[in-house]
Amino acid sequence: MADFGYDISDYYSVDPVFGNLDDIQELIDQAHQRGIKVLIDLVANHTSDEHPWFIESRSSKNSYRRDWYIWRDGLNDGPPNDWLSVFGGSAWQYDKDTNQYYLHSFSSKQPDLNWANPQVRRAVKEFMSFWLDLGVDGFRADAIYWLAKDHRFRNDPLKYESLALKSSDYDNLAHTYSRNRPQLYKYLRGMTTILRKYKDRFMVIEAEPEGADPAHEYLKFYRYVDPSHMAPFNFEGIYYPWKASVFKLFIDRFQRALKKKYLPVYTFGNHDKSRLASRFGEAAAPSAAVLLLTLPGMPFIYYGEEIGMQDGQIPSLFRKDPLQKRGPDRDEARTPMQWSSSAYAGFSQGRPWLPPAKDYRTRNVKNQLADPDSILNLYRELIKLRNSSKALKYGSYKPLDTANLYVLGFSRKYGRQNLIVLVNFKPRTEQVKSKELSGRIVLSSDPKTEKSHVNGSVELRPNEAVIIAT
Ligand code: GLC
Repeated sequence: MADFGYDISDYYSVDPVFGNLDDIQELIDQAHQRGIKVLIDLVANHTSDEHPWFIESRSSKNSYRRDWYIWRDGLNDGPPNDWLSVFGGSAWQYDKDTNQYYLHSFSSKQPDLNWANPQVRRAVKEFMSFWLDLGVDGFRADAIYWLAKDHRFRNDPLKYESLALKSSDYDNLAHTYSRNRPQLYKYLRGMTTILRKYKDRFMVIEAEPEGADPAHEYLKFYRYVDPSHMAPFNFEGIYYPWKASVFKLFIDRFQRALKKKYLPVYTFGNHDKSRLASRFGEAAAPSAAVLLLTLPGMPFIYYGEEIGMQDGQIPSLFRKDPLQKRGPDRDEARTPMQWSSSAYAGFSQGRPWLPPAKDYRTRNVKNQLADPDSILNLYRELIKLRNSSKALKYGSYKPLDTANLYVLGFSRKYGRQNLIVLVNFKPRTEQVKSKELSGRIVLSSDPKTEKSHVNGSVELRPNEAVIIAT
């Protein structure tokens, strides 16, 4: 194990929330025995304000950890600059004991670490090694853009002059100086040097670019960091509406820009946004599954999507999440996994933090396993097909002109294996004609469709997606 220079057990072994390391060790071992890799969340932009580092840092201006966080004097009786917190309000919190402000890009309970300080960067690398030594296969790196801030702490400009009156709204500022400064890539390269010391380790990063061309921003990570150990999530499928033209545009554009060694990471849902089945509609969830699992790269399924879970109903009493102020959809998408119809949806024996969504007695893993037509069985079939198909795992991606505004089409080819995917985004029957469509339907999102031969044209049922082997 690495030498940390401080007693690591203070941080990991006795954490009351986490339990002890035996649990995670068992989780990693059991997952590995089943051929499952484990990536854990790496939150390196901030710590809790209850973390020993921060407690020490705030204790005095002369603390040896003072510079591990970002402390500044106020300006004209107010915060040091106009930077805003993603969760609302100023990003600066006044601390009366030392008469300075600390920076928190998220909640005031989450003070930002000072990445400009090499000691902090070293500490992050040390805790990365700690988890890698324990056996994790890598990380999902949180809130990456905020690691790199302007050293001169310049004000963020307004996006448009006319927004002057509403400058306290996060979305009205261009976050030019409070995040995504050029040294970000250097910091990330530093992190991948740690991954490289181990075998087969990987990091997927949470990058949320601003502006009209996210693909361009995503590409910078591949170019400037290390594409063999790191890839950014492509979040466009989470932010855009379920429309064939929109999905076609962003997927084609991204695929075109990628080099062979760049691994695309698509996902259509996560813990920060309304659930896929609630956003796209329940009827579209099966075809979204087909699309996600037939695109190139590494797909990410957010837990619960495989049974079509929808946003839960969160009584106000549970609302502790600061982001709820900016949108109603975070805790709603975080309700317990619905395993069965037993108490708490079979998720735990004690009462979970959030209540299960109301439909858990009918929508649950146990029921869906017994139903061959369930969305869970569609996911299982898709994963099986993907695992056995080089075309889906490694094949090229080529857009197919479906000559139908509502149907997205593409092919995946590897050697002589060629698969065509058609996704009908509309809740009505749609026709696609193309001479390329000659082969056999090997999978459909609609259980009524037979696995029959097609020749030159396909009639898709409402919201149906099919995979055709040509
Ligand atoms: C990321 C996470 C979000 C979290 C925030 C602060 O955006 O996805 O869930 O609240 O970072 O850590």
